Amino acid sequence: MAPAQLIVESAESAYPVIIQPGALIDALPRFVIERGFKQTAVITNTTLAPLYGQALAARLPGGFVITVPDGEQYKNLDSMQRIYTRLLEGGADRGTLIVALGGGVIGDMAGFAAATFMRGIAFVQAPTSLLAMVDASIGGKVGIDLPQGKNLVGAFKDPLGVFADTITLQTLPPVELRCGLAEAVKSALVGDPALLDVFCPYQPDRLEEIIARSAAVKIKLVEIDRLEKGPRAYLNLGHTFGHAIEQASGYAWKHGEGVALGLVAAARLSEQRELCPPGVAESLEQILSGLGLPVRYDHLSPADLWDAMRHDKKWQEGTARFVLLSGEDTLVPVVVSDVTRAEVLAVLEGLREDA
Ligand SMILES: NC(=O)c1ccc[n+]([C@@H]2O[C@H](COP(=O)([O-])OP(=O)(O)OC[C@H]3O[C@@H](n4cnc5c(N)ncnc54)[C@H](O)[C@@H]3O)[C@@H](O)[C@H]2O)c1
Ligand SMILES: [Zn+2]
Repeated sequence: MAPAQLIVESAESAYPVIIQPGALIDALPRFVIERGFKQTAVITNTTLAPLYGQALAARLPGGFVITVPDGEQYKNLDSMQRIYTRLLEGGADRGTLIVALGGGVIGDMAGFAAATFMRGIAFVQAPTSLLAMVDASIGGKVGIDLPQGKNLVGAFKDPLGVFADTITLQTLPPVELRCGLAEAVKSALVGDPALLDVFCPYQPDRLEEIIARSAAVKIKLVEIDRLEKGPRAYLNLGHTFGHAIEQASGYAWKHGEGVALGLVAAARLSEQRELCPPGVAESLEQILSGLGLPVRYDHLSPADLWDAMRHDKKWQEGTARFVLLSGEDTLVPVVVSDVTRAEVLAVLEGLREDA
């Protein structure tokens, strides 16, 4: 497939999403130079700085690297303080460009720095994880975690562009690749059902196409609903169950793993409610387990998971809102808000390892 160049149109701006091997070497530096930036701060982590950060900064006008430690636990105010300090030490001003080089953690944090430093400066996303390429780098949601919970502080800040260099995926740990694939399966279910064929069985040589088509699904929903008042919520398919298992397991489950189990749970709940024909959950299970993703859990009770779900910030005023799948041949996402505890427990009971 030819390199993909997508455009995100929103009320405030339009920006390109470029998915291309070598984008960090040519497309991104060219873009920065053409825009006339004189200084570029590449914000990345300690894993990615030696792999890609130093080399990228050397290709950018006035490029310098700011590193933070690697991990979701560092998506916090301490790292923000470090970023602001390093920006000032580097002489950054309102004309400086930030490049967010990394997975979703770096994208969210560097984007938040761009939204807030000197009341906002320009930034571009250079996602290096599959999850960030298909999801986190698009849509303008940026932010950090607080000790009380994830993503509690943030902003909407669109990048000037997204540059996904697919060569970087060669160093991505396999578990992270699988987690990104879980999100891609979700995108297919939400907005591009024909994409599911690429996963039956999985065709790794079509990864670039998977990224471009998943990104296109996110772009479409973000364009019609930038501030997440309506259809953007479809992207939360599988996430109510997914977040619950992530949280109840003390984050032993990774986000994408939780999403995989959550997709199966959402499909089972859809079948249970006769929104979709029997067999949907079964074929989804085959796809996800074929990708090496978990579709069963143990060590936790359905009641524990239900309790974790009720603390999800997406539950409005205590009512359960689930994205489910509806339809006969073609499935479409629907938001359902009258799901009962008994229904959820029944689904969760059926997904225990020993059930
Ligand atoms: N803003 C949004 O719309 C949005 C959407 C989804 C998720 N997120 C956020 O994204 C974060 C999760 O993102 P993630 O899954 O990318 O996690 P991550 O950023 O922690 O990256 C996962 C791991 O892979 C490493 N890594 C990334 N790219 C690599 C590469 N090319 N080579 C080697 N190692 C590499 C990272 O250093 C890290 O250790 C969460 O904080 C979540 O809240 C944001
Ligand atoms: Zn997700």
